[in-house]
Amino acid sequence: MAIDGLDLISSAHYGAAGPPHEQWRELRSQPLTYFEPDGYEPFWAVTRHADIQEISGRPEDFCNGEGIVILTQEQIDERETSDIPMLMKTIIEMDPPDHRMFRKVASGFFTPRGIERLDEIVTESAKTVIDSLGSEGEADFVEKITQQHPLRVLSTILGIEPDQEAKLLELTTQLFGGEDPELQREAENRSDAMLALFMDFFTMFNDIIQDRRANPRDDLATMLATATLENGEPLGDMETLGYYLIIFNAGHDTTRHSLTGAFQAFLNNPGELRRIRDDPSLVKSAVEEVVRYSAPVNYMKRTATRDLIYDGHEIKKGDMFGLFYASANRDAEVFEDPDRFDVGRHPNRHLGFGWAEHYCLGAHLARASIHALIEELAARMEWMELAGTPDYVASSFVVGPKHLPVRYKVSA
Ligand code: HEM
Repeated sequence: MAIDGLDLISSAHYGAAGPPHEQWRELRSQPLTYFEPDGYEPFWAVTRHADIQEISGRPEDFCNGEGIVILTQEQIDERETSDIPMLMKTIIEMDPPDHRMFRKVASGFFTPRGIERLDEIVTESAKTVIDSLGSEGEADFVEKITQQHPLRVLSTILGIEPDQEAKLLELTTQLFGGEDPELQREAENRSDAMLALFMDFFTMFNDIIQDRRANPRDDLATMLATATLENGEPLGDMETLGYYLIIFNAGHDTTRHSLTGAFQAFLNNPGELRRIRDDPSLVKSAVEEVVRYSAPVNYMKRTATRDLIYDGHEIKKGDMFGLFYASANRDAEVFEDPDRFDVGRHPNRHLGFGWAEHYCLGAHLARASIHALIEELAARMEWMELAGTPDYVASSFVVGPKHLPVRYKVSA
């Protein structure tokens, strides 16, 4: 099959057809394939598990600092005139040694022990969203459950008051809406829309930062608002704001899509939910399988920092690479029967949280959130079935269903 680069990178294609698993299967026959899709930056597609590990482990050769998203020509043109990139850089777009120094600011909070203190919030939130379904009926599970659960958890740790949650949800949905017209903010052009979005985020988070500086508490919001780097410099206002943004934005839609992915997988494989009900110790491996299978972070970009040879190809400084985690997670070299959803899969060395230098900072929190929801689901969902066709967000970056209509019966 002749593979069109647009199938890998066009947000519209993802919106229409979901992730391109067939194309990836074919591309995995070789380490790198070069694409020059119409209207996008040219890039090398990296689709195998081993090559993504290799490239992620060499930040000195393949950096994040030149951006993490493969841009459209329109975005390149807009960037040249926009102020946004100058305002702030978040840790995901940093490289060593700065990256390590800035990552340390929050890494203590996100360790398994640090996350344990959130157990109650996470469990309570999972219970509340399932309670909100009532005893039986029909609902869009994205709207009712999967976007609410991470919103509640992240808002709590970042100090956002409940009456601000809806506004925050609207902002993050617009930020990650890709080219989806249903999700985009109305504005003259995309650049104006993005600037307005950043100003809204700024206002919301800045109020919290100022409050925590005046009234410190034992929470992540205070940790960020009062942080000092290991070189003794306090974190500046823009850097603090950048941290808020990256934690909320990297944490919300990713967790939402993995939870929606879990529902989809259980709807298509009801026997797997029964397995968990019969043996609740399977929840832990089910969480990993959900992240492998749904892979909400579809890809990340890397840029070559120098001329080099990779697998016999001459790579030029500035060449871009799309690391397709969602493809690596179906690599038959690593996973037996990779297209099967198996809640007992072991080992499960998926790359859904990335690898090495930029490995997901919030992975333990994401796991805890998914764990709590699957536990609640296995205990209380008496039956559920699809009540319509799920559709996908038109985005090739953070990927997942936009709506998931379900008929259900839940016990108290
Ligand atoms: C299932 C949910 C999640 C998935 C699939 C996911 C996936 C990822 C991936 C693939 C990366 C690597 C980026 C790269 O290679 O450049 C990453 C980085 C990151 N994630 Fe997550 N993530 C999830 C949830 C979260 C949560 C809940 C938070 C915060 C509360 C979070 C915060 C971050 C941050 C801050 C980074 C940047 C780390 C760095 O650059 O050092 N993520 N995530």
